[in-house]
Amino acid sequence: MKSRSISAICTVALCVLRGSTVNAEADATKPPADVSTSAESSSKPNIVFIMSDDQDYEMDSLDYMPLLRKYISDEGTSFARHYATTAQCCPSRTSLWTGKTAHNTNVTDVVAPHGAWVKFVSQGLNENYFPIWLSNHGYNTYYTGKFLNGQNKDSYGKNVAHALMKGWTSADVLLEPYTYNYNQPGMKRDNANFKLYNNYTTDVISTKGIDYINDAHQAGKPFFVGIVPMAPHVQTWPANGDAAPNPPEHLPISAPRHSHMFPNITVPHTVNFNPNKTTTGGWVGKLPLLDAEQLDHTNLYYRRRLQALQAVDELVEAVVQRLGELKLLDNTYIIYTTDNGFHLGQYRIPSGKGCAYETDVHIPFMVRGPGVAKGVKRTDVVTNHVDVAPTLITLAGLPLNHAFDGTPMPIGKAATAAHIPHEHVGIEFWGEPEFDGAGQLHLKGNTYKAMRIIGTGEGAFNLAYIVWCNGDHELYDMTSDPYQVDNLMLLGNSSSSDTRITIAGKAYPVKKVRNRLDGLVQAVKKCDEGACVKPWSTLHPKGDVSTLAEAMKAEFDQYYNQLAKMEFEDDICLPYYNAAAEGPIPKPFGS
Ligand SMILES: *[C@@H]1O[C@H](CO)[C@@H](O)[C@H](O)[C@H]1NC(C)=O
Ligand SMILES: *[C@@H]1O[C@H](CO)[C@@H](O)[C@H](O)[C@H]1NC(C)=O
Ligand SMILES: *[C@@H]1O[C@H](CO)[C@@H](O)[C@H](O)[C@H]1NC(C)=O
Ligand SMILES: *[C@@H]1O[C@H](CO)[C@@H](O)[C@H](O)[C@H]1NC(C)=O
Ligand SMILES: *[C@@H]1O[C@H](CO)[C@@H](O)[C@H](O)[C@H]1NC(C)=O
Repeated sequence: MKSRSISAICTVALCVLRGSTVNAEADATKPPADVSTSAESSSKPNIVFIMSDDQDYEMDSLDYMPLLRKYISDEGTSFARHYATTAQCCPSRTSLWTGKTAHNTNVTDVVAPHGAWVKFVSQGLNENYFPIWLSNHGYNTYYTGKFLNGQNKDSYGKNVAHALMKGWTSADVLLEPYTYNYNQPGMKRDNANFKLYNNYTTDVISTKGIDYINDAHQAGKPFFVGIVPMAPHVQTWPANGDAAPNPPEHLPISAPRHSHMFPNITVPHTVNFNPNKTTTGGWVGKLPLLDAEQLDHTNLYYRRRLQALQAVDELVEAVVQRLGELKLLDNTYIIYTTDNGFHLGQYRIPSGKGCAYETDVHIPFMVRGPGVAKGVKRTDVVTNHVDVAPTLITLAGLPLNHAFDGTPMPIGKAATAAHIPHEHVGIEFWGEPEFDGAGQLHLKGNTYKAMRIIGTGEGAFNLAYIVWCNGDHELYDMTSDPYQVDNLMLLGNSSSSDTRITIAGKAYPVKKVRNRLDGLVQAVKKCDEGACVKPWSTLHPKGDVSTLAEAMKAEFDQYYNQLAKMEFEDDICLPYYNAAAEGPIPKPFGS
């Protein structure tokens, strides 16, 4: 009964949104059951959502995907300032499909008890996430590829704790221990038996994605199809040798047809690559320089990543061509993104993700479709993965009646109208350093809160601020230091320092800026819904501050100087989210 009344509200809201079209007015008089009649569905757009795994922006991976450029970015809009809010697959994907930050989903790890599929289910999210909302409103929904870790062939769909994914008309997902096996993926479609394929993983996902597009077209309802290959993630398998892949290499594996490509390519040696001098904090600051063997490995790994992305590039072409053959391109949004970024040698870290650095959080996001400007690269808006669910909901013409921590990205008319501009991205993580050898180096504690904040247009600025669980701090002025190698917290916290940071044309001492950013981190650290989108309102409830430039006013100096700083209790690095350990939310100005 409940979902029926929601869909009635939605029908009305839809008609409000599209009140100028004759079709919508006609539909307004029909009962909710008619939401998905063919007249209605022909006007509702379809969405095809393609997501790679661990794809970087900062190491130029997009430059090696000519088909993605031809079919998506040249035909649509790229959001060049798009961020993951937690740079690891399970937390990031959970935030993406729920529109909630990781501190609100509390899915904060890739394994149980703090993460993975079992945690997603136990948090009630399998009853309350994107495909459910969409299918309640007349959409058919399909998904193929990797969803979350911990979906295992022995448990998935076999008991309540490991329930099948809800909300999908059909879902055919990769299951462990074959999820990260490039030449022998194992999958389960709905209630059918688990099945192994002796085909290249991305090709299997491509075939299944296109089959779903065909099914969706036949069904005649508006549709969402998620196509989520595992590339270019590293190949992994259980330590006990079960499901050992061929070849048994802990690297990304390309399709045979791409294994000759980029023979002598090397990781771009930007200034943050294996630097002689490091100013980073936390466990990263304790890393030794990479040796020659490790450096060779970064290049091999990089080449394999780019090779593995070639089949993803072909997948994009196959999808767009099929939609073209079915004459669906005019009414279909096609989105391309990834779950989180990646580093290979930067800051001396051998490989991996999970850091707050630009390599890990800055990620590709592009879209083509009805009303989307072509060949445009947007650097004037800051967006992130908790914005994705509200964006998709708005593109589908549904009301934003869920507890989203994000705001629709400006794509098409309705989403642009609903978009709330913001400069910041709150970034958070709980866990341990993750790379081969971390244990031997006795490195601990990858728990932190961070802030990316970018002012665009005149008076632009570009800052990154990180507060580590062990009390270390990092602050980078990315206008002058785009690769984050000059941590101003090491230089700028002494009163003798004359380093300045320019915000909206005015130069400020580092400390003054840091105090504002620390306040902002704290306004975001436990935020919910609107407060996540407009965090300055937590510090300035009168509503007179909504940008960093406004917060810099001298009248607020004393408030920010006296504000208790972001701190993790006793500098303990808990590997999970304990709200009490992350300090109180600061008192607002004037209280
Ligand atoms: C998050 O989940 C962990 C268990 O994984 C639990 O200990 C913790 O209390 C939860 N945090 C919040 C804020 O609910
Ligand atoms: C696997 O490869 C075979 C041989 O090329 C092909 O006939 C089959 O359709 C492929 N299956 C999938 C699921 O891609
Ligand atoms: C790659 O390097 C090898 C040996 O260093 C060289 O013989 C070969 O020509 C190079 N290939 C390309 C495409 O540059
Ligand atoms: C780092 O030090 C090594 C050895 O002294 C030197 O060869 C190399 O050029 C230095 N790299 C940079 C980026 O300064
Ligand atoms: C301040 O700078 C010193 C080095 O000049 C450094 O040891 C200390 O950790 C810095 N303080 C913070 C809070 O980063």
